[in-house]
Amino acid sequence: MVSVSVVEAVVSVGELELAVLLPRDSEALLDEHAFQRDEFLPYWAELWPSGVALASAVGTRPLDGHRVVELGCGLALPSIAAARAGARVLATDWSPAAVALAASNARRNGVRLSTAICDWNAPSQILEGAPWDLVLAADVLYERRDVAPLLELLPKLVTDGGEVLIADPGRPGAKEFFARAANDWTVSTLFGATGAGATVYRLTPAGC
Ligand SMILES: C[S@@+](CC[C@H](N)C(=O)[O-])C[C@H]1O[C@@H](n2cnc3c(N)ncnc32)[C@H](O)[C@@H]1O
Repeated sequence: MVSVSVVEAVVSVGELELAVLLPRDSEALLDEHAFQRDEFLPYWAELWPSGVALASAVGTRPLDGHRVVELGCGLALPSIAAARAGARVLATDWSPAAVALAASNARRNGVRLSTAICDWNAPSQILEGAPWDLVLAADVLYERRDVAPLLELLPKLVTDGGEVLIADPGRPGAKEFFARAANDWTVSTLFGATGAGATVYRLTPAGC
């Protein structure tokens, strides 16, 4: 558990209601040294519209026995929704506090997650489990520097029959990402930017 003051939020994701704890004040988690080292910012500690949109999208799917990994999970609503739908889920983030709180929030909602502290620039733990049936990522394209590593990583994570769901609120990096992703992937919109404030994209290996 993180040793910060937390509050409970009850979030409606589709037909599910998830009760999660999150830091009361994410700005209080700013760490100057971590920022200077990795430009690390505590974005994991907020409930982003993309996380809610992606959780709503996966929560309605029959995922019994499916193997799922989430990248940059933050509070991990999509991972928890996937586990509630029957999947075996590995939730990953480079923030140790994020994955600790994700595991604890999963238990609060009656499911278990496997977790890994993992930077997508050094993704050995995520690669060990590949191929995955489903890869999830919500709001991970807010920095242009992440476009290239994610374009390189994703094709290593799924094979024919697998899919990737990415939720994005219109970040600058997303435009470049989806333009370049068209080389390797068939990209479609799962459901459009509605009141949820984010679009969920479905990527399947090109040619499938
Ligand atoms: C904007 S937040 C979104 C969090 C969550 N997916 C959501 O939508 O609520 C971006 C997340 O990506 C994580 N992240 C950023 N860079 C990362 C990296 N290089 N490797 C792994 N996780 C990273 C952050 O810690 C944070 O949890």
